[in-house]
Amino acid sequence: MIDQTKLPGTLEFVTYSDFNQIAEAIRTLVVRGAPAIGVSGAFGLALAALQSNAKEKDELINYLENAKKILFETRPTAVNLSWGLDKIMQVAKNAENVDEIRKSVVEAAKQMAEDDIKTNMSMGKNGSELFNDNDTIMTHCNAGALATVGYGTALGVIRAIKDSGKNIKVIATETRPVQQGSRLTAFELKHDGIDVSLIPDTAVGYTMANDLVNGVIVGADRILRTGHVFNKIGTYQVATMAKQHNIPFYVAAPLSTFDMKSNPEDVIIEQRDASEVTGIGDKKTAPDGINVINPAFDMTPPELISGIITENGIVKPPFQKSIKELFTPN
Ligand code: MRU
Repeated sequence: MIDQTKLPGTLEFVTYSDFNQIAEAIRTLVVRGAPAIGVSGAFGLALAALQSNAKEKDELINYLENAKKILFETRPTAVNLSWGLDKIMQVAKNAENVDEIRKSVVEAAKQMAEDDIKTNMSMGKNGSELFNDNDTIMTHCNAGALATVGYGTALGVIRAIKDSGKNIKVIATETRPVQQGSRLTAFELKHDGIDVSLIPDTAVGYTMANDLVNGVIVGADRILRTGHVFNKIGTYQVATMAKQHNIPFYVAAPLSTFDMKSNPEDVIIEQRDASEVTGIGDKKTAPDGINVINPAFDMTPPELISGIITENGIVKPPFQKSIKELFTPN
């Protein structure tokens, strides 16, 4: 995988052969973004199956259950992680013997990776129709190829708009404290020759008040059956500003990001280390010992969301009804 902590300075690849290394890569944001974390978890379990020297199915399943627990406990908010781990665990349990488990979990993880790209391209196509030629679109955090296996969710829609021949400009927020916007989104869009401008998070209101933004699109880490969306910290503020200025606010996310069981109060918001806020790299930007509150995600209520773009179409308010229909087989 790409070591995203090194971007945009260097494009460096890291190779892992031990599921514990994958767990550490997820914890330390070498890999991040809900779909990318989900697929990395799946590959972590596949590696665990190859690492174990179990001779019997039960023994291997126990080993995998332990590896699953370690991978699951890395980050709590993105539902894709448990989705990916549960899927691979089920494949293992359905297999006859140790050899078949090893073969089938590797195949399943690879298939999950391929499906992710196809899913993002369908989502991109679905969402591209929501935006007009010469629109300027704001995005927050990084919901691009780096946050998935490829193409991206929110940035997938932006790529699809460009591929459809429309001219567009993008405004990317810096997304402090980890700067996924400036380090990753700006990097991806510049790499693809898409017109992108970077703003500090504090300039969201200014750009909207000065009619510089026609629409907003972001990704998601967990979407509830009620339409509540959990995404990178600051998303709620961007959505609130967009509502204030009557600017459409869209979320792009695959069905694997929907959590049809939890209620808002059930969702754990990851709290990350103070050092992310008190300094940038080796530069100290706050006094020693200052108390820091550093939630990595927040919740945007359904009333602030214009639509949710999925691979199976776009759902609109009232979300309780439209999301239920999305998961109701035809
Ligand atoms: O802390 P991160 O970088 O993993 O947070 C990522 C986000 O919030 C993304 O917007 C979300 O995971 C969607 S990625 C397609």
